[in-house]
Amino acid sequence: MAIRDLRDWIERVDELGELTRIAGADPDVDVGGLTDLYQWDMGNPALLFDGMPGYRPGHRILSNVLTSLPRLALTLNLDVAHSKRAFVDALRNQLATLRPIPATVVDDGPVMANRQSGDAVDLTRFPAPRWHPRDGGQFLGTGDIVVMRDPDGGWVNAGTYRVQVQGPRTVTIYISAGKQGQLIQEKYWKRGEACPVVVCVGMDPLLLLQGGYEVEAGVSEFDTAGGIRGESVPVIHGPLTGLPFPASAELALEGEMPPGETLPEGPFGEWAGYYASGQRPAPVMHVKNVFFRDDPIILGCLPGKPPNDNTFFRSPMRGAVLWNDLERSGIPGITGAWSHEAGGGRLFNVISIRQMYPGHAKQVGMAAASARAGAYANRWVVVVDEDIDPTDSNEVIWALCTRTDVVRDIDVMRRAWSSILDPMAYQGDGPGWFNDRLIIDACRPYDRRATFPAVARVTAEEATDLRHRWPILFGPDGKALSEARSANRGS
Ligand SMILES: Cc1cc2nc3c(=O)[nH]c(=O)nc-3n(C[C@H](O)[C@H](O)[C@H](O)COP(=O)(O)O)c2cc1C
Repeated sequence: MAIRDLRDWIERVDELGELTRIAGADPDVDVGGLTDLYQWDMGNPALLFDGMPGYRPGHRILSNVLTSLPRLALTLNLDVAHSKRAFVDALRNQLATLRPIPATVVDDGPVMANRQSGDAVDLTRFPAPRWHPRDGGQFLGTGDIVVMRDPDGGWVNAGTYRVQVQGPRTVTIYISAGKQGQLIQEKYWKRGEACPVVVCVGMDPLLLLQGGYEVEAGVSEFDTAGGIRGESVPVIHGPLTGLPFPASAELALEGEMPPGETLPEGPFGEWAGYYASGQRPAPVMHVKNVFFRDDPIILGCLPGKPPNDNTFFRSPMRGAVLWNDLERSGIPGITGAWSHEAGGGRLFNVISIRQMYPGHAKQVGMAAASARAGAYANRWVVVVDEDIDPTDSNEVIWALCTRTDVVRDIDVMRRAWSSILDPMAYQGDGPGWFNDRLIIDACRPYDRRATFPAVARVTAEEATDLRHRWPILFGPDGKALSEARSANRGS
């Protein structure tokens, strides 16, 4: 049965044995620290905090959300794959054939159980952690979606952007230059109008997965989520803004961002692993209405030194979307893609190809460095042959070490799209931030393919033969001792 909201998700994850409940943790110190410790490794359970000092029992925080393959598969309505490589393949097939299902507008839902309006709005009642020790405040929104309507096209964007509590009725929203949310907000401001906005904190994590990656402009994340779920997402239209938010959301803030109004925001521990952007002005949202379920659950998704909750899911998502972007631009021969966890799921992208013509690898590298899913804040693009598993760091480094001519195969792209969050980005003459990036062809040289030395390892066929002839070592079906791994490595 489809997961319809965060409570369904928690129940299903509990059934999988992947949920730990914690009572009495302090949101100012413990919640962020414990989440950080848990999210260093893939496979640790999700954490559900309750009974936090200073907050009502029942007001909860869920964190370490998407850090296991079974939880990712559950959220994306996919089967659990036996390897990261197979998971990317399944995901990119899902996305390539996805038919968005439009959201359904309903009048009522669990999120309307409680309402604060006007002067009665009090955001301090909700547990908003100081996620990292040197954060400049409490961030209610990390695993959120920020909903806006494009004033020209009329389509609805839902992006995941951090939201800092600045007062009982005021928050700031940090959106990097060039993201859809920033472009939309700028359109209202250029007209001298306030930008209507809804921040949704706590919903089916599928919506976080949609809000947190580059769904193309003009397409609503509610509709792509419906397509993945296999049924329409019921939404309520906010009475003030007319903007949609899930009828079964945990907590929704409705308000507006007046033109030019900012407050100091940050510092915040960011996805690249630093407090890089420090404190600077960010747009203010005045919260006019708050809607929330009984005993609301804040959905936290903690950035920080990678790997972390963001990067474990970003790695396959970016791999899948990049793969599809390259194919959609007409480039043949793509066989895999991955964005390394340690690069925050952005900085280190690897694409594997079946080389088909001279210059093919260079074309893929250049395109990947500029494609929708690869353009922002990237640093390394590595193109490898199809016998290399892009999700396996050992294999990628081996290809870099043994198939790259360091004079001929490395290009530098200068003044590319970046942000202040990248500690190596540099400011242009105006307000913009740029970075430089490397594009590396780590494929066997195209003109030496026929004579390139053979790989000193059993081939996939030889491995299959050995496995079946040696059941004492590999079991009656020949599958013991990581068949998938050795099959991936056969060449
Ligand atoms: C947990 C999480 C937090 C994020 N925080 C921010 C943020 O504070 N500001 C930002 O610009 N992007 C942030 N991102 C990245 C954006 O969500 C991502 O680039 C997405 O594509 C933006 O949506 P858009 O393409 O509709 O602009 C975050 C992503 C995740 C998963």
